[in-house]
Amino acid sequence: MFNPRLQAEKLPLTRRTNLVTDSQPELEIEGSTYRTDPWTNVPQSILSLIPRRLHLQPSHPVSLTRELIESRFPSPTYIHHNDLSAVVTVAQNFDSLGFPADHPGRNRSDTYYINQDTVLRTHTSAHEADIFRQNASEGYTISADVYRRDAVDRSHYPVFHQMEGARMWDRGKVPGGDIAKAVRDDLARMPKHDLEVEDPNPTVDPERNPLQAKHHSLEEVEAVAAHLKRSLEGVVVELFSKAKQAAAAANGPDPSIQEEPLKVRWVEAYFPFTSPSWELEVFWQGDWLEILGCGVTKQDLYINADIPNHIGWAFGVGLERVAMLLFSIPDIRLFWSRDKRFLSQFTTVDNINRYKSFSKHPACYKDVAFWLRSSSSSAGGGLRSNAQDFHENDVMEIVRIIGGDLVEDVRLVDEFQHPVSGRKSLCYRINYRSLERTMTNEEANEMHESVRGELVKKLGVELR
Ligand code: DAH
Repeated sequence: MFNPRLQAEKLPLTRRTNLVTDSQPELEIEGSTYRTDPWTNVPQSILSLIPRRLHLQPSHPVSLTRELIESRFPSPTYIHHNDLSAVVTVAQNFDSLGFPADHPGRNRSDTYYINQDTVLRTHTSAHEADIFRQNASEGYTISADVYRRDAVDRSHYPVFHQMEGARMWDRGKVPGGDIAKAVRDDLARMPKHDLEVEDPNPTVDPERNPLQAKHHSLEEVEAVAAHLKRSLEGVVVELFSKAKQAAAAANGPDPSIQEEPLKVRWVEAYFPFTSPSWELEVFWQGDWLEILGCGVTKQDLYINADIPNHIGWAFGVGLERVAMLLFSIPDIRLFWSRDKRFLSQFTTVDNINRYKSFSKHPACYKDVAFWLRSSSSSAGGGLRSNAQDFHENDVMEIVRIIGGDLVEDVRLVDEFQHPVSGRKSLCYRINYRSLERTMTNEEANEMHESVRGELVKKLGVELR
């Protein structure tokens, strides 16, 4: 069958848009040198964030969140890996986890490529296969910075942090080879909680969330899933009871806030590297919020890592997402601030306090409207930014390179197709606002002019 995505992958490489401002033959990243090629799309502004290591910066809210979650996964059962390189191979990030060749996550519009074979990891799962192969413990966590080309708004930043966790049991080592019993015994030793949990679905569903029937019995997977769910519910209890105490301390005795019970729910999900899979959502201030993905590890991962007799679970949680809830931090850009008025507000895991805004500066929004090239004109040679080739993330990247942390969000506000020519027009609204100072209108204008120029130069659009 015709697959437009596969087709697009076959475009000659030289005709791809290269968004790197100054293309160089080589990139130096943390002391290593990488050749660039037509796949390279990582700008210097992103590379410059690699050394920041917010997840290890003492008293930083991302680091405090990591510490809190790690405390639920103690040694010696769990080893904590916190310093793995952000540069990984395409094989580590995608192939080793069973991502199909046409998975959208592999696109240059979504992922930062150093070159055709090398990316900035898009998730901590990129290290799963290697750590399985080391086979050094029954469990581990990995905390690290991850990189994704994405929207610009208050909850998305091209660099964020994840914590991965995994636990496994070796069929050859548990008494009598009885995995289900061994897992249930471990579960019985775990603390219980009084969290309200909605979990309406059966552990497996033949269509939506299948058992790996070739490798696992239902009894084994029931036990592993129960252990996984209880472990992660324990994390939520740890985190959100701290946040609740903070809210209560800040607001005084407000019975409506204090008495609303903490609630979570398990939702069926899909990941290429687990089956069955779930997401965990927390009910927080009136909404269900997804905070993590998890599941029973696909047996192929263990087989490929030479530990075919293992069975177990893994999860991945977004640390900023959790930290924003925990500390009431309203804008993800704040995590990157070096302003003492931000950093000095956080101390230790025993003192989880609500963030207090130190200032609110006026926003200044500006629109940019442009025509994409029509598909027919692309046949004449200009391949870039015709309707099929246009990726919104390329607009986001241009704005980010020019405006950096001075842009609060970028939103598509209008879209239409010309009735006669068939050409498509888009209008984006860029909201300029500093978190730390008042920007002048001239400053915003100057940035906006650069954005307009780069959209023409890099994407070949026609301004209106
Ligand atoms: N890597 C996934 C993500 O970034 C999260 C995840 C899901 C991690 C399932 C896992 C897992 O280890 O088993 O969305």
